[in-house]
Amino acid sequence: MAIAFGIDIGGSGIKGAPVDLDSGDFAAPRTRIPTPQPSTPEAIAQVCEQLVAGAQLAEGDPVGVTFPAPIKHGEVGFIANLDQSWQGVNVPDLLSTRLGHRVLAVNDADAAGYAESVYGAARGKEGLVIVTTLGTGIGSAFIFNGTLLPNTELGHLPLDGESAEVWASSAARKRENLSFKAWATRLQRYYSILDTLFSPDLIVVGGGVSKHHEEFLPRLELRCPIVPAALRNQAGIVGAARLAAENYT
Ligand code: BGC
Repeated sequence: MAIAFGIDIGGSGIKGAPVDLDSGDFAAPRTRIPTPQPSTPEAIAQVCEQLVAGAQLAEGDPVGVTFPAPIKHGEVGFIANLDQSWQGVNVPDLLSTRLGHRVLAVNDADAAGYAESVYGAARGKEGLVIVTTLGTGIGSAFIFNGTLLPNTELGHLPLDGESAEVWASSAARKRENLSFKAWATRLQRYYSILDTLFSPDLIVVGGGVSKHHEEFLPRLELRCPIVPAALRNQAGIVGAARLAAENYT
């Protein structure tokens, strides 16, 4: 069984698990450690070390790490929801020697989207699939005929003078105490823009709130189908592990 380790770095928790690459399932239970504050590169690197040390990885098993930021050739672009000192850091350079394994870094939504396309709700889907994650921010992934087009960052689509995620993320719903119905009107506007601009064949909606998909997805009217993610919040770990094993850069 081929194994790679996935680590999902988020604003509140850092989660890791070994992934069975044949099935896309966790090969051992997931471990979660609260994100240190401030969430500096040094503090997060220590948590990653702890997660990898606690797993029984074989020499040569790769490690995939997700970030809530655009990642270009391993380097963090801008960062909205973690410590600003991450900007410009090359993640594989920071982590591979410390972890003792080859490290791949990838945007969190790209990892989740790729996992959905290999193992989940978009498996085998031809054409353009857009996967969005609704959480603290809004993440997006484009997968065209199974190939990931990274760093689309559609949570930052400008809407009424600010990033759409400020107004339509799951965090915005909670912050403003919106009913699912009221939130769905915002999602309708957001997803209609994506539908018009990109004519996707399928939209997949992930993030923790996707477990309540019956409350809001049936209210949306789009030209393309819109479905809940299958892997829910395992998707980031699974996608990062898979991309690391594929030697994606
Ligand atoms: C970040 C994205 C990320 C998304 C979800 C946004 O604020 O810019 O890179 O995918 O949040 O975490």
